Amino acid sequence: MTYAKVEIAPSILAADFSRLGEQVKAVEEGGAEVIHFDVMDGHFVPNLSIGIPVLESLRKATRLPLDVHLMIEHPEEYIQDFIQAGANRVIVHQEATVHLDRALALIREHGAQAGAAINPATPVSMLDEILNRVDTVLVMSVNPGFGGQKFIPGSIDKIRQLNHWRARYNGGFRIQVDGGVDLGNIAELATAGVNTFVAGTSIFHKPDPAAATRQLRKLAVESLSQKV
Ligand code: DX5
Ligand code: ZN
Repeated sequence: MTYAKVEIAPSILAADFSRLGEQVKAVEEGGAEVIHFDVMDGHFVPNLSIGIPVLESLRKATRLPLDVHLMIEHPEEYIQDFIQAGANRVIVHQEATVHLDRALALIREHGAQAGAAINPATPVSMLDEILNRVDTVLVMSVNPGFGGQKFIPGSIDKIRQLNHWRARYNGGFRIQVDGGVDLGNIAELATAGVNTFVAGTSIFHKPDPAAATRQLRKLAVESLSQKV
């Protein structure tokens, strides 16, 4: 599979949930390619968020692919339910399961694209054995659990390393970044090799989320065209 060079994935965690449909329409209009959906269980991360009923409603409100980021323990137990509810992509954390390979296979068996995520303290090498069977590798650039945190600069080295490694896999997976992505770092992230940019605060906390989406995507695309 070949993957899009730049995808903006607004994280609805930062949206106004009383106007979710409207907010999603706005980012669609701004050119967002995918909608990022954060699921938290209060165990794997110290916070709770949204789950299956919200995903089902969102599925009716947009045709964009839905990217479900599972920050939960025992993700295997819920994969099928999230895919049935409308997830096109499911991302599980390497740290959340002792059966990462099984979880990724399960996602693909149920017809969705499979992603593996790593926390800031987890080295890229922890994914070495599964890189030939994922669609997405998600590098967390904050400690997961909350929106609006500061980008951890060390994440860029991990992205560069992954970008270097994926040459071996014929570019066989996307690189996704999540946490603290904004106008100040998106160009550098694109040049380092990121395809999918998750952004919550820097889109939904702006007065015009459509314009914010457009601006982020523009900087990412421009930085790639300047790359020599
Ligand atoms: C954090 C979540 C993120 C979050 C990003 O645990 O996985 O998707 O919504 O939010 P910002 O862009 O505000 O850092
Ligand atoms: Zn996320």
